[in-house]
Amino acid sequence: MIKTIEWKDDCVQIIDQNALPNELKIIRCEDYERLAKAIECMEIRGAPAIGVAAAMGIALAAKKCSSKDELQVSLEAAHNRLRSTRPTARNLFWALERMRRIWKDLLDETAENLKEKIINEALAIAEEDVSVCKAIGENGADLISDGDGILTHCNAGALACVEYGTALGVIRTAFKDGRKFIVYASETRPLLQGARLTAFELKHDGIPFRLITDNMAAYVMKKGLVKKVIVGADLITRQGYVVNKIGTYGLAVLAKHHDIPFYVAAPLSTIDLDRSPESVVIEERAPSEVTHVRGVRIAPDGTEVLNPAFDLTPGHLVSAIITEFGVTRPPYDLSVLFRNGGDRINRIVD
Ligand code: MRU
Repeated sequence: MIKTIEWKDDCVQIIDQNALPNELKIIRCEDYERLAKAIECMEIRGAPAIGVAAAMGIALAAKKCSSKDELQVSLEAAHNRLRSTRPTARNLFWALERMRRIWKDLLDETAENLKEKIINEALAIAEEDVSVCKAIGENGADLISDGDGILTHCNAGALACVEYGTALGVIRTAFKDGRKFIVYASETRPLLQGARLTAFELKHDGIPFRLITDNMAAYVMKKGLVKKVIVGADLITRQGYVVNKIGTYGLAVLAKHHDIPFYVAAPLSTIDLDRSPESVVIEERAPSEVTHVRGVRIAPDGTEVLNPAFDLTPGHLVSAIITEFGVTRPPYDLSVLFRNGGDRINRIVD
């Protein structure tokens, strides 16, 4: 399977997710501005993937510089531009902070050494994403049993990461382990990441699934078809509040009502220990995403719209959070995970 994002021949290659599932189109980004635009218009999307894209955007900016003065100016400009692309996903800010530490900590290095270290850090972030997703998959797979129906929302798969995925990583590992289950993928209006991307991935891997529209969730739960819900996350607060694609909160409430476990799979880079639920910034996207479907108008001209891209699910509705360090259950104090994560994670939260 092609990687969602890859550093190739000194350029960044991404799969154009707006073209899927009809066309598998690759976009070559030669500068950070092109990557910033790709994040904004969601040619690349999903929290871990946009974190990697931001890191690689910094690496592209570094590549073009020839002096240390130029590096300092250009890297700050790239950092600010990439930070402004989307406001909610923690991984974007996490990756940019991690990249910034390189050029702030290594002021004595030559320009060439600094450039090399910046590019290597971006590549490391991309490589770690793959191993972290596989660890999440291993840690969560045992939560899935033979005969389960598993509902997932949006796309928390390979396309939302470098490869493999978080929520779909758990599903992939359980499937590879030979477990027999069926996935219910909700289409995820307005941009249909479930219908276009999750269905694409599940079909590619031969994992049995049914696509449902968002308003069918209560019905399939009531019918007893859903035994577990597994979703990804864009941001998790210290106490386990989960910010994820709009509709996630509704699914968590429904799952609670029907006594169905509700799991969240995410890397530690999605957790922000300093973030209170009140300070979460929920992205508002263009009205045309709601008034149109794939370019076709479905609402009267001039219709006013509300289009929040994410919602917040309180920790008491979340049965467990699956990370690369294991499965944590309420009451959540996720700072414990960071302490257990050792040096690598301490470096991330410093
Ligand atoms: O607006 P998107 O498509 O970037 O939103 C993506 C999601 O909400 C995903 O569920 C989340 O990023 C988890 S991805 C592993």
